[in-house]
Amino acid sequence: MAEKILVTARSFRATPGRHLDILREAGYEIVPSPLDRPLEAPEIAPLLADVVGAILGLDHVTAESLAGATRLKVLSRYGVGVDKVDLEAATARGVVVTVTPGANSLAVAELTLALMLAVARRIPYHDAIVRAGNWSRLAGVELMGGTLGLIGLGRIGQEVARRAAAFGMNITFYDPFPPPPDVLASLGASPRSLEQLLAESDVVSLHLPLSDGTRQLINRQTLAWMKPSALLINTARGEIVDENALYEALSSGRLGGAGCDVFSREPFTGSPLLTLDTFVAAPHIGSNTVQTTLRMGLMASENALAVLRGERPGPVANPEVYGSGG
Ligand SMILES: NC(=O)c1ccc[n+]([C@@H]2O[C@H](COP(=O)([O-])OP(=O)(O)OC[C@H]3O[C@@H](n4cnc5c(N)ncnc54)[C@H](O)[C@@H]3O)[C@@H](O)[C@H]2O)c1
Repeated sequence: MAEKILVTARSFRATPGRHLDILREAGYEIVPSPLDRPLEAPEIAPLLADVVGAILGLDHVTAESLAGATRLKVLSRYGVGVDKVDLEAATARGVVVTVTPGANSLAVAELTLALMLAVARRIPYHDAIVRAGNWSRLAGVELMGGTLGLIGLGRIGQEVARRAAAFGMNITFYDPFPPPPDVLASLGASPRSLEQLLAESDVVSLHLPLSDGTRQLINRQTLAWMKPSALLINTARGEIVDENALYEALSSGRLGGAGCDVFSREPFTGSPLLTLDTFVAAPHIGSNTVQTTLRMGLMASENALAVLRGERPGPVANPEVYGSGG
């Protein structure tokens, strides 16, 4: 009987291509998730019990989810964020966790620019006006000459910097582990402290991972450091922003606008933020382009197959699993 690989990531399953073919050609049976959304820890536990690998979307994998997963060798994240996977628990069970760095950077960077422009020119608001048979206008703001503050200057942050520079923005960043000086020089990006960056920027864009140290980094206090006209863009992770504080800042006019692709709870329903014209939302579509689905899918499948062949793939999120040599 063929060994099985669980696939929870929705666009991975739904898009035909080499990423699915190479799993089948290697002799594995693909087990699709029974639900069309990220799974909670108790939901994924029984599915992991019977498989040797999983191509994971944004599912929650805890120590309890892994308790019965005796045959599991690899959790291959279809994406880069591993904040929903208990890496220590995976390491303790000898399960390799892989990611697809860089495969989605362009798609997320383009969405970031789309959100900046949508908020700056109130595109969803104006679209609704025209659809309702009306014809009124609110003045927007231009990006040209404005200062962009990037919090996190990794793969996605750097791609955003390149695109924003083409719009004539001045690029600043805050990142405790910045890229090397030659990369900074080519981007024309200047370092700032977090407080300086928030105080100076016309647009602040988040491109850092979620961790205990970054949860609610954008809160009542840090929002108060921002200019009242500034725009906040979040395509990183929802929990990095205190959404109640964001609502207070936007609704009281202490912040100019915000655009978010990610939320503390997804699907994001019932929030007062959704009543504000200055707020633009997308349903976590950062990586969801035709090109990225195929690129990221192939990388996720190759990572899983490498582990199952006993090889070590490049992008491993828990290198400790390989012991002290790792
Ligand atoms: N919206 C989406 O669909 C989508 C898709 C992919 C990634 N993401 C999110 O984007 C994030 C960034 O992705 P990436 O590929 O650029 O990752 P990356 O690892 O290449 O870059 C992250 C950068 O953040 C920096 N950083 C870490 N802690 C920080 C802190 N406290 N303050 C400021 N900077 C800090 C790191 O030094 C690094 O340079 C991911 O962690 C993920 O959560 C979202």
